[in-house]
Amino acid sequence: MRIDLALVGFGNVGRRFARLLEEQRSQLLADHDLDCRIIGIATGRHGAAFRAGGIDGVAAADLVEAGRPLDDVHDGTAARLPARALDVIALAARSAAGARVVVETTTLNIRDGRPAIDHVEAALAAGCHVVTANKGPAAFAYDDLRARADAGGLSFLFEGAVMDGVPIFNFVRETLPTVKVLGFRGVINSTTNHILTALETGEAFEPALARMQALGIAEADPALDVDGWDAAAKAAALANVLMGAGITPHDVRRTGIGPGSAARAAAARASGRRLRLVASATRGAVPVVEPVELPEHDLLGGLEGTANALVLRTDLLDEIAICQLGGGLVHTAYALLSDLVTVRRRMRA
Ligand SMILES: NC(=O)c1ccc[n+]([C@@H]2O[C@H](COP(=O)([O-])OP(=O)(O)OC[C@H]3O[C@@H](n4cnc5c(N)ncnc54)[C@H](OP(=O)(O)O)[C@@H]3O)[C@@H](O)[C@H]2O)c1
Repeated sequence: MRIDLALVGFGNVGRRFARLLEEQRSQLLADHDLDCRIIGIATGRHGAAFRAGGIDGVAAADLVEAGRPLDDVHDGTAARLPARALDVIALAARSAAGARVVVETTTLNIRDGRPAIDHVEAALAAGCHVVTANKGPAAFAYDDLRARADAGGLSFLFEGAVMDGVPIFNFVRETLPTVKVLGFRGVINSTTNHILTALETGEAFEPALARMQALGIAEADPALDVDGWDAAAKAAALANVLMGAGITPHDVRRTGIGPGSAARAAAARASGRRLRLVASATRGAVPVVEPVELPEHDLLGGLEGTANALVLRTDLLDEIAICQLGGGLVHTAYALLSDLVTVRRRMRA
């Protein structure tokens, strides 16, 4: 089955996703009868492109990585070059005959989750499914967006919003029927965990952060990571989706890390403990993000570098730990791919 995609956001994650689609093309077709075609791409500063017959996603990624706008992959015969994400979504919704999915990977706006929420709302209103790696929609507006998707018989999926491609939301939804999540605690921000691991061994804060920026793992504005906002957004998304919290990241009690954390991290290490940025929540209470000194034998305390883990506390299965020992862009790109397969499976069902 053909599914037409409009990519809103074409940065590190969007471009890796476009490449992964090509790498997995034959397997998606063989295993899932899924034939994905990119027909629109919208960015902030790199222009936009639309081509009803399909855009070569790898060529588009090459163009942007060479610092050029997307004009070369735009269909020159199209009436006009769409200027904004909402135009590309509308164009894709009008042009595609069959199933349409908007893949949202714009930057997180921690103030109010927009314009990502606007993009999701527009996509759902136009009859498109949505998959996103952006935390904003689930962290700020989960209940409303979920209701809109349900009303339209559409999917709104965001596996990549927390711990990249490692299943959290899909895991609970698909494999834990009737289980109630009572709370969670986790190390869910790779950049700060990498920095804290470096600080423990006497490395400086700035070079450790620069490494995460060079790898495309740090947020576009790295203050979002070190100030704890990224973890707060993830904690809000988890609390909203798994525990019906109905909160925003601004409700999360939040303390980040900084160069001043070096002494505490080194002292903790010297005394057999580890300083980690922990996000935790209990059903009905406000989530907290803060640096916590943990015993070395604690699952979260033992996480090194970009490793993440989330421990879910449940009513029927006690504690369940989900670990992500590697990391990187391909994981996030995979999350989008796995959400696409979920959309396809739901269509079959
Ligand atoms: N990087 C990771 O490892 C990772 C992991 C999990 C989740 N995420 C999430 O995934 C999303 C994308 O991350 P990223 O690393 O790919 O960020 P990025 O490299 O900064 O890319 C963001 C993309 O969004 C575009 N954009 C920004 N505002 C836009 C708007 N109003 N309309 C259309 N396009 C807009 C940018 O266009 P221009 O560059 O042309 O301005 C760029 O193409 C973020 O929400 C992030 O939190 C990232």
